[in-house]
Amino acid sequence: MEERYGIQSKVCSRGLNDIWINEYDGKVRMCGWSNFYIGNLMENTIEEIWNGELAQKFRESMLDGSYRYCNHAKCPHCANNKMEDLLVDYVVPEYPTYCSLSYQLQCNYACKFCRNEHYVPCECENENYKKIESEVKKFLPSLITLSANGAGELFCSDSIIRLIGNEELNPNTKILLETNGSLFNERSWKKIERLGRHNLQVVVTVHSFEEMTYQYLSGTSLPVQQVIDNLKFISQLRRENVINEFEIATVICERNFREMPKFVETCLKDFSMDTIRLRFFEPYGVMDAATEWFYDVRNEFHPYHDEFEQVMSNPIFLNDKVWRWQGETKSLQKENPYFLERKNVQALSSLVTLPNAMESINKFMRKNDNPKIALYGASSIGNAYRKLFYEYGINIDMIFDTYACEIIQKDYQVRRPEESLVSQYDLIIVTTDTFMTSIVEELERANYKGKVRTMSDVVSDLKSVIS
Ligand SMILES: C[S@@+](CC[C@H](N)C(=O)[O-])C[C@H]1O[C@@H](n2cnc3c(N)ncnc32)[C@H](O)[C@@H]1O
Ligand code: SF4
Ligand code: SF4
Repeated sequence: MEERYGIQSKVCSRGLNDIWINEYDGKVRMCGWSNFYIGNLMENTIEEIWNGELAQKFRESMLDGSYRYCNHAKCPHCANNKMEDLLVDYVVPEYPTYCSLSYQLQCNYACKFCRNEHYVPCECENENYKKIESEVKKFLPSLITLSANGAGELFCSDSIIRLIGNEELNPNTKILLETNGSLFNERSWKKIERLGRHNLQVVVTVHSFEEMTYQYLSGTSLPVQQVIDNLKFISQLRRENVINEFEIATVICERNFREMPKFVETCLKDFSMDTIRLRFFEPYGVMDAATEWFYDVRNEFHPYHDEFEQVMSNPIFLNDKVWRWQGETKSLQKENPYFLERKNVQALSSLVTLPNAMESINKFMRKNDNPKIALYGASSIGNAYRKLFYEYGINIDMIFDTYACEIIQKDYQVRRPEESLVSQYDLIIVTTDTFMTSIVEELERANYKGKVRTMSDVVSDLKSVIS
């Protein structure tokens, strides 16, 4: 992977100062938009994790300018080309100075694109919360910013509420609360109103002000009027300066994009928010691939994409209060998964029926200096390819897969794509076109410098070497 920013004396402040606890099992990341876990609070103390090898590895990825663990499309600072504004001198604080408490997933909604059913916590969670709370309390007094709950619903998150209400919290700590707003009424506010003494930012996500769209996308039967009333209540706290920053967020998808100009107009007219965050739907793997593809109207292959572009060109979105969370970045999705799956099947059948297969493969290998080849994708198709290549005289001893169970056998292994393993191969052939974009990113994060090709690419290469 190319260096993104060159060797650095300054690094991203989020990667330097943050800790995100967004798994109830205690796993932590340095920055929530990175894909790199630096440890687990169930197994180690915060000091061990913060000063540990993995944390150092993450810091080195900033110092060498590669930022290889960052998800550049998801990080709003990268997506808006504002990352340079975050650069600070490389001085590692004794403890994190920014903490995101987002380890409770409990929620009164079940938004279509966030989860496929209401979250039911497992019994072990309470024990985990106690351990997380005791580790977080160690650095509560030194926090500059504390954010809560970017993963579930704040007012359903008892452990997180205990921490943000803790006596040890420094009065100078800035607080950032994320909520769906449905429970943010006067009564709930009373429970946390001491936070009004802090520099307080509140972000409320609402998917629509139309009853049907709101209830459908939020997976709730609550009337939308309830959240509208609460937004008015929060607006009042903003006008009184009890809340210092107020943002209304929404996630734009196939269901609600046509309502967006009206949505923004209503916000500007009826509420006292400082900003309106327009965020585009991203596939989280919550729904099946075809449905998620259909939600992603930002994808230029989507049948409504042109209409979406037209709607988004409405001048109301030029209002200073409106900001596009992902900037001008494009959807990572491409053709409908159905077509991609068909490509996969075509690649397999072409390889099986390839005329003069041995001769083509030999020529291909010679032309490419006999590369050491691994496959990516440990599905049954991945295994079928391994066997087929063996019949054609090519021994493949490694299949990479981020999510499959690791297998170590005499003749081959299935392993996660770690730097020390991927660096042993010159060519990685991805056995599915469907997830190519995210697989390439995964290999980049593992610092892979060799070639990556899909099986369809390799099949056309094989055909062309003998034509
Ligand atoms: C997981 S929620 C947690 C905070 C709070 N419950 C809420 O809804 O605002 C954090 C943010 O992620 C957004 N979100 C959830 N699923 C998403 C998806 N698939 N694509 C884009 N944003 C998503 C939510 O709408 C919300 O703005
Ligand atoms: S560049 Fe973005 S993803 Fe990377 S550490 Fe900074 S804020 Fe996080
Ligand atoms: S309200 Fe937030 S946490 Fe709850 S389901 Fe919706 S997006 Fe997810």
